[in-house]
Amino acid sequence: MVVNGTPTRTIWPAADGRGVMIIDQTRLPHEFVIAELATLLDFVIAIKDMKVRGAPLIGVTAAYGLAIALREDPSDSGLAQASAKLNATRPTAVNLAWALGVMAATLLPLPPAERAAAAFVKAGELADRDVAICDSIGINGLALIAAIAERKRRVNILTHCNAGWLATVDWGTATAPIYKAQEAGIDLHVYVDETRPRNQGASLTAWELSQQGIPHQVIVDNAGGHIMQHGGIDLVIVGTDRTTATGDVCNKIGTYLKALAAKDNDVPFYVAAPSSSIDFAIADGLQDIPIEERSAREVTHMRGRTDDGRLETVRIVPDGSGAANPAFDVTPARLVTGLITERGIIPPRKEALAAAFPDRLVPVE
Ligand code: MRU
Repeated sequence: MVVNGTPTRTIWPAADGRGVMIIDQTRLPHEFVIAELATLLDFVIAIKDMKVRGAPLIGVTAAYGLAIALREDPSDSGLAQASAKLNATRPTAVNLAWALGVMAATLLPLPPAERAAAAFVKAGELADRDVAICDSIGINGLALIAAIAERKRRVNILTHCNAGWLATVDWGTATAPIYKAQEAGIDLHVYVDETRPRNQGASLTAWELSQQGIPHQVIVDNAGGHIMQHGGIDLVIVGTDRTTATGDVCNKIGTYLKALAAKDNDVPFYVAAPSSSIDFAIADGLQDIPIEERSAREVTHMRGRTDDGRLETVRIVPDGSGAANPAFDVTPARLVTGLITERGIIPPRKEALAAAFPDRLVPVE
């Protein structure tokens, strides 16, 4: 995607080959800062502290982190230990374990001396593959938007959190159909849920839509239902951190409430789901998906820019009030209209998913 007029990915190898460059997403939208990750610890902290975030990008970042770690210790135990450290950074997005599994399957058969170089090549392939998958999701999702555009002048889309370019290597998942629709000349308007507590909608999705020149408005998380009741939303598209083999979707906290409101108002509710986010080993989203519990401070405090340009963090709850912070929720398959995947739009059903991805349990070569 384009940042200040320059085509940019969210992660790329440093020019001198030492480390890997990322956009520090904790600094957006007020500062655009590129950071270098050069040690395994840098990668672990970047994922944990959400300098990089979003399920597909977490997976690719972990793959590069493993490559960096193998320069120090390419033995079987070195690989296993680095992989375990990376895998423990965030529990919900399955892309992390998926990417590390692909890396291990590629690297373990090789002699240790060849592993670090091969790991860099494989991480780069995973990055390119993510871009291709998101591109296909964009093309497949465009058909939904184009169908709405045939019957009305402007298409209003609601999205939650950031399942955008910043959450992937390029294009995004939920945003890819939006960017493709823009290219196709469709008149669009996007409602962006602010997405408390970390405000990924307000600070990240709104930023990237601004960069792309897509008309949008940030709304508070509780406004979506009201706007749907008044006919203001034609389509909801969200991302996913883990979708079960039966089509239950785990995504950023608050997604479930949007799906309920969409159902009540007959608004189609689609999930942009790259196959790397589908966990074919589990069937019950509520039972089987670990939900990350993050720091209470993300709820009790907010960061922003003052009118005179200072970046400040303020407490918004009374001293002494605690906070709970579950970071994801599960939307049951019955509330999902369809899964926009790289292989087409699939009903959220076990048989349909299995038929679309018969090869999915085989690690990519
Ligand atoms: O906690 P985050 O910011 O990593 O959560 C991100 C989301 O919930 C996204 O919707 C999801 O990862 C899909 S990204 C294409």
